[in-house]
Amino acid sequence: MPSPREIDRVLIPRDRIAARVREMAARIAEDLRAAVAADGHSPDEGHRIVLMPVMTGAIVFTADLIREMPLRLSLELVTVSSYPGQSTESRGATLAGELRADIAGKHVLLIDDILDSGRTLDLLRGIVESRGPASVRSAVLLDKKARRAVPFEADYVGFEIPDEFVVGYGLDVAGRYRNLPFVAVVKPDAVLGK
Ligand code: IMP
Ligand code: MG
Repeated sequence: MPSPREIDRVLIPRDRIAARVREMAARIAEDLRAAVAADGHSPDEGHRIVLMPVMTGAIVFTADLIREMPLRLSLELVTVSSYPGQSTESRGATLAGELRADIAGKHVLLIDDILDSGRTLDLLRGIVESRGPASVRSAVLLDKKARRAVPFEADYVGFEIPDEFVVGYGLDVAGRYRNLPFVAVVKPDAVLGK
């Protein structure tokens, strides 16, 4: 595998990600199916399930996840901006634009690449909950538990990782490396933009 100059080492190889994503998809699909059935609906009827991937980092994870979930679902992409400007620290989070989807009475799954401070998913959960959904769950590929600034636990976690800056499989540093097929740790110089 080619190793770009800024990559320190592969943390999670491609085949481990694929296997874990398949497991997660099976669990999530089973839970969502049961939730819809508990409402007295058929999982194959109507628009009962809304998946909400956080742009842009969640695109690769979401693309793999949904293709392993044989369920009737719709996608509502959301963009959350972190501030202030530092790309590696999110000290605050704000929703860019409006939620377009009607999520009242629906089962919502928030999807993100990584759970770090917790602010992104905490913000989104609050916004979604204020719209009267039937349920709100969250799925993340990676969880950096040590970095949590607000209390937030995801319902589905692919891998717990140490407090290191990672790229690949959707995750970026300054917009780069989202297309790496594995998750890798970058050298500190790359994080600092040198
Ligand atoms: P939180 O709001 O701090 O939980 O931030 C989550 C967001 O921070 C993710 O959606 C990522 O965009 C970004 N992030 C946090 N840690 C990393 C990392 O190690 N690599 C790339 N992006 C990260
Ligand atoms: Mg992100």
